[in-house]
Amino acid sequence: MAIDKKFVDQFVNITSKAALASSYLVGKKDKVAADKAAVDSMRSMLNKLDIEGQIVIGEGELDKAPMLYIGERLGTNKGPKFDIAVDPLEGTNFAANNLPGALSVIAITERNNLFKAPETYMEKITTNVKEKNVVDLDFSVKKNIFNLSEYLNKKPKNLTACILDRPRHKEIITELKKLNVKIKFITDGDISGALLVSDKKYNVDIFLGIGGGPEGVLAAAALDAYGCSFQGRFLFQKNDDKQRARQMGINDFSKKYEIHEIVSGDSIFCATGITSGDLVSGIKIKDGEYTSETFVTHKYTGLKKVIKLKQNL
Ligand code: FBP
Repeated sequence: MAIDKKFVDQFVNITSKAALASSYLVGKKDKVAADKAAVDSMRSMLNKLDIEGQIVIGEGELDKAPMLYIGERLGTNKGPKFDIAVDPLEGTNFAANNLPGALSVIAITERNNLFKAPETYMEKITTNVKEKNVVDLDFSVKKNIFNLSEYLNKKPKNLTACILDRPRHKEIITELKKLNVKIKFITDGDISGALLVSDKKYNVDIFLGIGGGPEGVLAAAALDAYGCSFQGRFLFQKNDDKQRARQMGINDFSKKYEIHEIVSGDSIFCATGITSGDLVSGIKIKDGEYTSETFVTHKYTGLKKVIKLKQNL
């Protein structure tokens, strides 16, 4: 079933308000406070919605997160049953240090259509290629780049790969350099990084590397609406991680997840800028009003756009 499009406006309003709340703490060197402001705002707004919401991706598990924890029920219980994934402040370093790219993010599906991802790392790869076997997590970097180069009819030197700048990516980066591929390094914020393949205007052909699992699921929701490809594989380093994963129903720890196993049916995705970045501009406050920009997708209506809102403070 389709999610009523009236919810698009409601969720855009929720991420816009959360972004506004967090924006007051931008550049204050306090990640925790900036995150808390976004969490408090998002939670209180979600609780006012006529939905039966359930958090599947949130601030963590109940023992670690008192609010927006995995399993928390939200809403007035008077409407449709939704699975909700949230990252009220994606890019805590960006907000704390007033750097580009901090976002407030939410993704919604109907109940039981969004993957419950554990708080662990995930190996990810995204492209704007729908066909199978062009790019795959199981292929070497070289094979992926050669296949993509052939498929897009672009020489490797004209391809751009986006990756988090982390020591763990040394081998991938060395390989990309050898192949002469341009690299767009990001210091944080791999939801945005993964989404840069969605439109030619961002000039990114492939996103790859290891980042947060929950961030992977959120990005997959938007990429699904774009018809892009996404593959993810969780990385469980500690026994404790495996134990928690088992409790969430994951038994195959090396499984490669395709996009349809992460998100299915209709979905809405909203990411509002807190500080300006690649996808959207940040919150601007002037004369008692604030302007927000939200990157929005609604799969079944084909909506894919940036919504700019001016609202009273
Ligand atoms: P936070 O907003 O929680 O700080 O996450 C930022 C982020 O860059 C994510 O976008 C990314 O998935 C993850 O951290 C990468 O983790 P790490 O910094 O440990 O490499």
